[in-house]
Amino acid sequence: MTSLSVTSTAAASVQADALVLGVAQGRGGLVLAAGADDVAAAFGAGLLPALVGLGARGRAGEVTRLASLGATTSAVVVAVGLGPVAEAYDAEVLRRATGDAVRALAGTATVATTLAQVHGTVGEVEARAVAEGALLAAYAFTAFRSAASAPDVREPVAEVVLVVPDGDGAAARAAVTRAEVVCRAVLLARDLVNTPASHLHPAELAATAQEHGTRLGLEVEVLDEQALAEGGYGGILGVGQGSASPPRLVHLSYRGGGRRVALVGKGITFDSGGLSLKPSASMEEMKADMGGAAAVLASTLAAAELGLAVDVDAWIPMAENMPSGTAIRPSDVLTLRGGTRVEVNNTDAEGRLILGDAIARACEDGPELLLDVATLTGAQLVALGARTAGVMGDDALRGAVVDAAGRAGEAMWGMPLPADLRKGLDSEVADLVNTGPREGGMLTAGLFLKEFVAEGVQWAHVDIAGPAYNSADAYGYTPHGGTGAAVRTFVQVLEDLATG
Ligand code: BES
Ligand code: MN
Ligand code: ZN
Repeated sequence: MTSLSVTSTAAASVQADALVLGVAQGRGGLVLAAGADDVAAAFGAGLLPALVGLGARGRAGEVTRLASLGATTSAVVVAVGLGPVAEAYDAEVLRRATGDAVRALAGTATVATTLAQVHGTVGEVEARAVAEGALLAAYAFTAFRSAASAPDVREPVAEVVLVVPDGDGAAARAAVTRAEVVCRAVLLARDLVNTPASHLHPAELAATAQEHGTRLGLEVEVLDEQALAEGGYGGILGVGQGSASPPRLVHLSYRGGGRRVALVGKGITFDSGGLSLKPSASMEEMKADMGGAAAVLASTLAAAELGLAVDVDAWIPMAENMPSGTAIRPSDVLTLRGGTRVEVNNTDAEGRLILGDAIARACEDGPELLLDVATLTGAQLVALGARTAGVMGDDALRGAVVDAAGRAGEAMWGMPLPADLRKGLDSEVADLVNTGPREGGMLTAGLFLKEFVAEGVQWAHVDIAGPAYNSADAYGYTPHGGTGAAVRTFVQVLEDLATG
């Protein structure tokens, strides 16, 4: 991960290869954001005209580079657009602008930035946003590249220096330390999502969870196929039975003292659809179908590293959904943990089967709250697009999750669980079918999960089918591929529970 530091040296004389400052769209044209005064002075009034001459307009996503020709210690000055000039910029504007600049500067070793100073003084919010934007943008997944193709990849920026006014250093450093923990977790989730299913079978994902959990002093329990059979986990076993790689259920517990929270994350290491096989185009990105598992693992680790005052029990079911002679068939009936019988009318609705088991198990220990996260439905993408997660469940917790997401800088939107859709899950031969009608598909999936939540447990469900994986080009601090969606939100929720 990129190393971050904080300095109160004047921006124009900071030792760096490039210096990033903010520009915005004012009514009268381009304006320099606060924090760049000494740089502007170093250019002797020539900075703004030069940027305008280079085509800078201050629009979000815009990056304009300028040779400093000795005016500043850094050889290059970079102006990044903040969008319309504002009295107060949203933290996400700063996060993205920093990300745009740091991404554009890949191949540069050291980057300094005044972006945290757009409001004059630098508080926790500004420092955190800029630190996160930098750490999340400086990412490349190169684990499977050999030396022959590696030269094509420009190295992510190695070092970022936050330039802050005298006196704001302590607050900025504290924010940077927190950002490092959270972003390390996000990057872990991205790496896991990007790792192909050939190299991340359920047992390997479980071993990774065990390794990281143990390193941080968590208690880790891994249930293998035999333990799953003994425990009556018919959903996890059923989904996994078509694969040569057997399923797992991982339980991590962190005891920080405080509210008792259960986290559950969908860990399908590859989703072919099973016998209800997906068309090839829809299968291409299904190595990412363990994005929920990655988010739960990563946010639990971050909570432990931050020493948050909460008790977390993470339950992560893992299976590979494959078609074969041993695979479950449409019309098969599975008995899930707790005894609920499910008629599988579509083997591609596998996520809810493994989650049903895990949610039922998590509730047995009587948590106060349960949050689950899953790349659950294509219907989530139809309803909200690729970038916005759908949040369902009990009103209060759903609201708290959406609110935390807003502060963490993740797009999430509350969705209903209309009671009238429940009848779509009625089965003629068992308690439930796993697949309802196409209309409202994200919501019926949520209603299916609700069947496994015990009374008295407050519950929220987050569908990250779209947000977990960016199939389009990189933007802001979000790369192509695995995004680490929901990690920042979950850490924020846990932090809120610990402090409030
Ligand atoms: N993993 C998929 C959902 C998904 C789709 C994630 C696209 C990311 C991108 C899930 O297991 C699935 O196949 N869902 C089906 C459910 C249907 C059969 C009721 C779907 O959404 O098509
Ligand atoms: Mn599926
Ligand atoms: Zn799936």
